[in-house]
Amino acid sequence: MMEKTLWHPVALAQEVVHAPLAVRLLEQELVLWRDLAGEVRAFVDRCPHRGARLSMGRVSGDRLECPYHGWQFASDGHCAQVPAVPEFVPPPAHCVRSFAVQEAYGLVWVQLEAADTPLPVFAAEGDDKLRKVLCGPYDVAASAPRIIENFLDMSHFGFVHEGWLGSRDATAMAPYQVENTPTGVKATNCKAVQPQSNLHSTAAAEVHYTYEVTDPYTALLNKLPEEGTSKEGWYESIGLFICPVTPESSRVWFRLAVADFETPDEKLQAFQHTIFVQDQPVLESQQPKCLPLDPRAELHSAADRMSSAYRRYLKSRGVSFGVC
Ligand code: FES
Ligand code: CO
Repeated sequence: MMEKTLWHPVALAQEVVHAPLAVRLLEQELVLWRDLAGEVRAFVDRCPHRGARLSMGRVSGDRLECPYHGWQFASDGHCAQVPAVPEFVPPPAHCVRSFAVQEAYGLVWVQLEAADTPLPVFAAEGDDKLRKVLCGPYDVAASAPRIIENFLDMSHFGFVHEGWLGSRDATAMAPYQVENTPTGVKATNCKAVQPQSNLHSTAAAEVHYTYEVTDPYTALLNKLPEEGTSKEGWYESIGLFICPVTPESSRVWFRLAVADFETPDEKLQAFQHTIFVQDQPVLESQQPKCLPLDPRAELHSAADRMSSAYRRYLKSRGVSFGVC
């Protein structure tokens, strides 16, 4: 399964402190914990001794201790101590399977199968002129690809986000362009008139967007300044990062990169929350929950060019989890 070679977000970095944390990725139960060096570790959440859940144990110094018989596992997964037999030196084969971990974008990322795969790109992260705020997690009863596709879709604004991102009086979409990029697909020249495009808007505004898929379960939205305005060089970005938990359920985060350094985090998060809880019931109602890659499986209009491009991209990457 190629998805195992990708990096996936599994938790907020600040959530992984000194106690073990259970998470699930691609149907694999994992335990996360932070060692004394401050590094996050990810193990299979099953003790190789008698199968107890390691996430019910505790972190003891630089080791993760199983809740059942207290076997202790070091940062690399090797069993360092069997309390019932203190003089026993466990051989190298006494270990729990561990996975590669990285911290980025305020999240912990795990790769289940070793491969030379880069993290999903989120260019705005490195821009000091933009402040980063995380929203989520949201646990959603939908496949990761359905959630990505929803994020790339502007033709639902007038219905699902009426009065916010769209209006029933202006549902026609101007044509936009779709292109392939080295890491995915991109839609440019997207425009929408939005009654309440952000927290601070007081009047409807035409918003210019680009959308980009940079990894099978990662999408970015860049908001661009309107032509002829003074906001030279200005942009804002939202990253959508999804943990594919099962083929029909996902954990979702949004990474906001905004030029607004004044508004409290909670207010920025509340706006994103308002929008996403409008999407969630519709997303969870979609059948099948998997995203169909056969173009004949669902009907399309010219407004769906980006979603069709995303489906072709998933197919070309050999993605199988959450699609059908
Ligand atoms: Fe983990 Fe026995 S089951 S120590
Ligand atoms: Co929406």
